[in-house]
Amino acid sequence: MEKRSQWGTRVGFLLAAMGSAIGLGNIWRFPATAYENGGGAFFLPYLFALLTAGIPLLIMEYTIGHKYRGSAPKSLGRMRKGFEWIGWWQVAISFIISTYYAVIIAWAILYAGYALNGAWGDDTTSFFVGDFLNVTEPGVVGGMNMKILIPLAIVWLITLTVLGIGVKKGIEVANKIFIPTLVVLFLIIVVRALTLDGAVDGLQAFFQPNWDAIGDPGVWVAAYGQIFFSLSIAFAIMITYSSYLPKKSDITNNAFITGFANSSFELLAGIGVFAALGFMALQTNQGVTDVVDGGIGLAFMVFPQIINEMPVLSGVFGFLFFASLVLAGLSSLISITETYVAGVAEKFNLSRVTAVAIGGGLSAIISLLYASNGGLFFLDTVDHFINSYGVALAGLFEVVAVAWFAKELKNLQAHANSLSDIMLGAWWRVCLAWITPVVLGYMLLQNLRVELMENYEGYPIEFLFYFGWVVAIGAMFVGALMTVRKWPNNELEMPIDSK
Ligand code: PHE
Repeated sequence: MEKRSQWGTRVGFLLAAMGSAIGLGNIWRFPATAYENGGGAFFLPYLFALLTAGIPLLIMEYTIGHKYRGSAPKSLGRMRKGFEWIGWWQVAISFIISTYYAVIIAWAILYAGYALNGAWGDDTTSFFVGDFLNVTEPGVVGGMNMKILIPLAIVWLITLTVLGIGVKKGIEVANKIFIPTLVVLFLIIVVRALTLDGAVDGLQAFFQPNWDAIGDPGVWVAAYGQIFFSLSIAFAIMITYSSYLPKKSDITNNAFITGFANSSFELLAGIGVFAALGFMALQTNQGVTDVVDGGIGLAFMVFPQIINEMPVLSGVFGFLFFASLVLAGLSSLISITETYVAGVAEKFNLSRVTAVAIGGGLSAIISLLYASNGGLFFLDTVDHFINSYGVALAGLFEVVAVAWFAKELKNLQAHANSLSDIMLGAWWRVCLAWITPVVLGYMLLQNLRVELMENYEGYPIEFLFYFGWVVAIGAMFVGALMTVRKWPNNELEMPIDSK
């Protein structure tokens, strides 16, 4: 039997896992989320969520991958036959996310260039939606946005080449280059941002604790939501990556290191972003609150404005910012794409290169939809629904299946403890069997309530139906469909109980 690929070094695995975790979510999602949910007071629920759900789930996924040695569907299917579909469902979700994530990285590549020549002009918002995206109406494709095609091709070329080369020489080497580079670039950005006038006001706004927020359940849900998304949990990623760990690998400690590294980067991003926002607020005579934004708006509309206001070397600062987005994004894109490359290769007994060509090729073609003039609306809608009713729901199914249906937590705990420095105890099982399902369940109900009250972003109902609900629920069906075929070879090359 072909030997399973393995990471070359522990650091290699850790950097790849951090590369997946540290993504656009850290840079553009965390700062605004923290600010809007209590500022300095947000750190309490955030830390609580990290310790009671984020790291425990990460340990669970690492242990499953290490113990069952397969892609997410294969590993979960080996635990219990019926769980295979949860793995495929998560793989389908990752596939869908990869199709638009690639396009955002392509935008960032173009913006890195625009930063150098200030191509976005004074009105950065109308540049982004108008000149740059030629935005049409929701649901209208409206032709292809040609300038995105070349950077998009570059994004896919890099990703698929890295994956085609393999785990050790491809994914590991790429992350060993990307992640340290990202940290250095980002540190330069943060230091520069901190030396701008008004930076202190920005930080003050960011860290100012609003203790009343602690009493608001919505703030706790936001903290858990941020942690789940940010740690790439329930994307099938961490199971896949840990399935390449050598036999003797610490699991629990690795999960703590990944979790803390990811949160540290998140905090760093919060500091950098708010220092820059404080500067812009001062320059434009506004309050910090008036300039806060998250997501695409922060990166592609507000940051260009900040760059416009900068006194010296603004082009370099802008270039570094968008280069950071590209690096953070690429290492995450590599990780989600690997989930379906691994799953498809194992299921259809294909070589890695063939699986990359088929899976990656299909994803690249679908990504053209988001490179159309109507792309922004498709992207926004698919992203919203796939995160709220894909990732969160699949995560809920995963913990409930493992903790309650298979009653596997004790076995997983024994497996992790036989290998790790830090010992898991009853606290770990309580976090997974009780805290995580309760929070995820509550989060889903809350999301659903808001969804039914008003159309997301006021988009037409039909559009939301096809590109929101059908996509999110479709991932579940595609997952089920994939289980029809039997695995070509399902014996473990390493007996489960070996240490
Ligand atoms: N942790 C990633 C982030 O913060 C989430 C993610 C991973 C998204 C992989 C897409 C792909 O952006």
